[in-house]
Amino acid sequence: MKNIDTVGHVTGKSVYLDDIPTIAGTLHAAVVGSEFAHAKIINININEAAKIEGVVKIILHSDIPGENQIGGIIEDEMLLAEHEVHYQGQPIAVVVAESERIARRAAHMVKVTYEELAPVTNPREAKEKSLLLIPPRTFSMGNIDEAWRKCKHIVNGTVEIGGQEHLYIETQGAYAYPMEGGYIRVHSSTQGPTAVQKTISKVLGVPMHLIEVDVVRLGGGFGGKEDQASGFAAMAALATHITGKPVKLVLPRHDDMRITGKRHPYSADFKIGLSDDLKILAYEATLYQNGGAAADLSPAILERTLFHSTGSYFIPNTRVTAYSCKTNLPPNTAFRGFGGPQGMFVIESAIAKAAEHIGVDAIDIQKANLLKENDEFQYGQRAENVNAHKCIELASNKFNLVNLKKSIENYNKNNKYSKSGLAIMPLCFGISFTNTAMNQARALVHIYQDGSVSVSTGAIEMGQGVNTKLAQITALMLGISIQRVKVHSTNTTRVANTSPTAASTGADLNGHAVRIATSALKKRLISVAAQELGCSEDELNIENETITLNGKITHLSWQNLIKKAHLKRIALTENGHYATPIIYFDKTKEKGHPFAYHVYGTGIITVTVDCLRGTYCIDDVYIVHDFGNSINSIIDLGQVEGAVVQGIGWVTMEELAFDKKGKLLSNSLSTYKVPDIFFAPKTIECIALPTEGPNLAILRSKAIGEPPFMYGIAAFFAIQNAIKSFNPKHRFKFDSPLTPEKVLMQLYSKDETDITK
Ligand code: MTE
Ligand code: HPA
Ligand code: MOS
Repeated sequence: MKNIDTVGHVTGKSVYLDDIPTIAGTLHAAVVGSEFAHAKIINININEAAKIEGVVKIILHSDIPGENQIGGIIEDEMLLAEHEVHYQGQPIAVVVAESERIARRAAHMVKVTYEELAPVTNPREAKEKSLLLIPPRTFSMGNIDEAWRKCKHIVNGTVEIGGQEHLYIETQGAYAYPMEGGYIRVHSSTQGPTAVQKTISKVLGVPMHLIEVDVVRLGGGFGGKEDQASGFAAMAALATHITGKPVKLVLPRHDDMRITGKRHPYSADFKIGLSDDLKILAYEATLYQNGGAAADLSPAILERTLFHSTGSYFIPNTRVTAYSCKTNLPPNTAFRGFGGPQGMFVIESAIAKAAEHIGVDAIDIQKANLLKENDEFQYGQRAENVNAHKCIELASNKFNLVNLKKSIENYNKNNKYSKSGLAIMPLCFGISFTNTAMNQARALVHIYQDGSVSVSTGAIEMGQGVNTKLAQITALMLGISIQRVKVHSTNTTRVANTSPTAASTGADLNGHAVRIATSALKKRLISVAAQELGCSEDELNIENETITLNGKITHLSWQNLIKKAHLKRIALTENGHYATPIIYFDKTKEKGHPFAYHVYGTGIITVTVDCLRGTYCIDDVYIVHDFGNSINSIIDLGQVEGAVVQGIGWVTMEELAFDKKGKLLSNSLSTYKVPDIFFAPKTIECIALPTEGPNLAILRSKAIGEPPFMYGIAAFFAIQNAIKSFNPKHRFKFDSPLTPEKVLMQLYSKDETDITK
């Protein structure tokens, strides 16, 4: 089953926000952003800008009829700055004009006078100054202080992890237009239509039922539109509210890169202790999250970092403390993995450092500590249906790890200025929103009189193929052809109070809701069929658009059955509601059972480093992934390929550069490099671990969106290994992204300092 959007995408017929036909008289908006990362606003002069022909209105904070507040978790973020700005690009004004060009030109003419203040950009400095977004949190297990005494090897280290620009192809944007009686309809490029609706309602000071949010699809979100679409939608709706006209706001790429938050950079200290037989007995870490200027989703992201801070390993004694630090950068936000990758990067660094110190291969430590059935996670949940060992074993066999390692050794022996390296990344990722309440979804299913079916859910299609999966589930449940099923836009008037499509739960949560709605419909239809055919309900089924009696075709077709049901006045509409069972989490104890299940896998990455230039090439990526019983292996494989390349980009070439004053230097595609087809691995081979799949996954098909991102982390360690074989004096440095510049420095460094105890 191909993605139902494939043809539309390649023929350019798929509709994105910017393709929605605009109503005559539509105005266009542009954002005026702060020049400085930290400053007092002395004066805003709009006189020159307002004089430009075609400028309709310049909106300032004082024009906001409701609350000037867009903070989701913590109310600490203004829609438009009032007296102070806290990051470069922070919105100060919105210019509304007759054309996009005029709006943007006028935006440059708005003159803001500032008094510069000293910015803080480093999370450790922020922590020193007590600039924290929330109080620190600690996850722990066992008795760490005692455990150190039992360790044969103890190693300390420091880790720096860079952020990442989402670079969704479609930038942030929204189109708002007035209906009657103050009702506003908004098309928004958002992963969270309800968040958009709530934010607009708050900013305008109107009830949520006067705001309708509709989303056809996104040209990518990757987490960047879970929270941050709301502000831009609120600006468009505010402009509509004030002018009474339709208003469209689409960010130019430069503005999007400058204004919006990114993946969180983290800084970390670790200490790891092992026994003689390479068992990790103790692990302690302090993590400094660079949150940016407002909380946004940082508290939830910090929490997921803690959940994943021991990676795929069982460690009996742990203590991990995480600080969410407030800095003068754009508020950092959700990005594929949601803080998990950073937590995992730190433990993998600790393992690499321990391996270097002991003189063993990191793989031996990884293998010796992989989770086993019933092992306890730091957060209290016990590991069930653990596939960690199965994945690494299958990967070792299928991809002949012994041979791979041998051929790299040989290559390195025979080549002086070109070195190869290999690393493994075991994966264990928890599925569910860590905030239990968010794990709910609804679906509205109509069967029309002609037998066609309409499905609405809270799921947002952002390229991950959720609509195809929902159509498949509907067709499968009702026993009809997928051609009869239309998955509609995501709309807050059809499905309300939605959780964002995030945490890789889109297909699970909304799929279960569709399953519940369609099975109720099917039950009613079978009862009609039983009356028609004069037999009992349990002998009947719907298969291939026909009613079957004990598996044999009857004369009653799907279409006829629907006609009959309608004449009998049977409801052909159903609303399904799903809430993930079992899960809970007690934040006062930092213990619970937060995840419905975990996704496992093993990634192997090999690289070759040019030791004269510091450049490198990602050669091969081999993956064994635990898909469960995939309902769409083409889509799922696409998710693996996309995610792993995005993960590799994060730890290698994607470098966000800010100057000391907190100004983004890498603010365009000429300075911010992402993997392209030339950089992509020569091969990505992914095989599925044959498993049944867990009950709580929809049709036992495991969530796929984020987990494979983590495999990319192996690229970092593979390059470190290659550097080491060229420069034996090199001591592993955990400073991501590992750009060619850094590789070159490390190839020739004479640094033998080893921070061990
Ligand atoms: N795939 C594409 N093509 N585009 C995206 O924006 N977002 C990722 C992932 N895969 C994304 C994607 C992220 S961050 C998440 S959480 C999941 O898709 C969300 O969708 P799902 O819950 O339906 O898997
Ligand atoms: N993952 C992704 N997005 C989220 C989460 C999560 O766990 N919690 C809140 N938003
Ligand atoms: Mo994904 S970061 O949970 O949108």
